Amino acid sequence: MAKKLFIKTYGCQMNVYDSERMASLLALHGYEAAPCADDADLVVLNTCHIREKAAEKVYSELGRMRLLRERRAAEAGQGPAIAVAGCVAQAEGEAILERAPFVDAVVGPQSYHRLPELLARRVRAEGGRVETGFPVESKFDALPEAKAAGFSAFLAVQEGCDKFCTFCVVPYTRGAEESRPAAAILAEARRLVAGGAREVTLLGQNVNAYHGEGPDGRNWGLARLIRELADIDRLWRIRYTTSHPADMDGDLIQAHGDVPQLMPYLHLPVQSGDDAVLRAMNRRYTRGDYRRIVDRLRSVRPDLALSTDVIVGFPGEDDAAFEATLRLVREVGFAQSYSFKYSPRPGTPAALLPRQVREGVKAERLAVLQGLLQEQADAFNRATVGRTVPVLLERPGRHAGQLVGKSPWLQAVHVRADAGRLGDMVQVAVDAALPHSLAGRLALSAEAPS
Ligand code: 5AD
Ligand code: SF4
Repeated sequence: MAKKLFIKTYGCQMNVYDSERMASLLALHGYEAAPCADDADLVVLNTCHIREKAAEKVYSELGRMRLLRERRAAEAGQGPAIAVAGCVAQAEGEAILERAPFVDAVVGPQSYHRLPELLARRVRAEGGRVETGFPVESKFDALPEAKAAGFSAFLAVQEGCDKFCTFCVVPYTRGAEESRPAAAILAEARRLVAGGAREVTLLGQNVNAYHGEGPDGRNWGLARLIRELADIDRLWRIRYTTSHPADMDGDLIQAHGDVPQLMPYLHLPVQSGDDAVLRAMNRRYTRGDYRRIVDRLRSVRPDLALSTDVIVGFPGEDDAAFEATLRLVREVGFAQSYSFKYSPRPGTPAALLPRQVREGVKAERLAVLQGLLQEQADAFNRATVGRTVPVLLERPGRHAGQLVGKSPWLQAVHVRADAGRLGDMVQVAVDAALPHSLAGRLALSAEAPS
């Protein structure tokens, strides 16, 4: 009988992608997906270390897993194997076993292909349970291919980061920047499209730093890769995330102007609007640079919408610096955003900086900033009401007879439509902006873009 696997994923889209690949790998070893941990034989927690709260969640989940295991052991003689994967595994390694000795395997993001072996050691009750090296073989080659899971698929093109923003753990947990060869990416994209995907989101911790080897032996940047992907038949939409402003080169900006498949929506984390804070963060751009990049993008693609990440309460951020961030947000205008209180992370330079900001001040600033960003997001969504927009129908809605898809600007759109329309690109007349989505009606059917 097949063994049952439950993977719980925290954090970024790269983790979502990695979880899919771990599931494909474990399927080769006889595991099939279970809907929850309760009757799984193997539970994998794919973890996030970006902020303290994210890391702490893992330990509370492990507490629940210990109880589950004890209950199942009492009832059936054996509880599920527990593996901790992802960035907490990478950052904390053996320390996880100290806090949670019942964990069977700890495996960092570069070592997922070793997971079956680690679990086999558990059965044989031998050997180490921690694998957090950065092996020479690329995990992209060592893991089985991703399958198309739906009409919108993720495709990792780059992993790791060499930017070393002073607040960020990613360069330590995900390692040095590595770009996949373009031929492998194009082949994977074709497979995804053959499997039904109509939209591909290119993933990387620093995706626009992509510089993979091209089939011509030359180095390809992200713009070149996107232009090649745009030639794939039936691949209607291309997105990429997460990008860094310092890597928004002229080519890539131009691609937004002349590749119609490249969606007019860009996640471009700004982090702060104050030059001194940006410098202390080692972000490598000024607020003026950021404004100019946005202006250039909007001049080639006037309907481009932006989303961003902002950190408040970075060490040394005074009231004036915070005001500068608010001003920048007002000047640029964001359709979507993620904002956070600065969280000092062990091993990062900013954690040791003087002038750390008090928790209460961080909370006040976050509330003010989020108020402004929410107003902008609401205004952006309301502005879509009354318009007719192309929507890729991706999944059934919560109510019978309803499907959900995405607008070009990544808004979820609900519409009454037959399930047979799943995977179609349709025109939707938007009637209402709800808190987290838009609602509309099918307008005249669009020709499928080629
Ligand atoms: N504290 C708060 N936010 C952080 N981020 C990354 N590291 C930290 C930290 N130490 C935020 C940044 C990044 C997003 C993924 O998480 O805004 O863009
Ligand atoms: Fe972290 Fe900066 Fe790299 Fe983004 S660019 S992953 S914030 S170090």
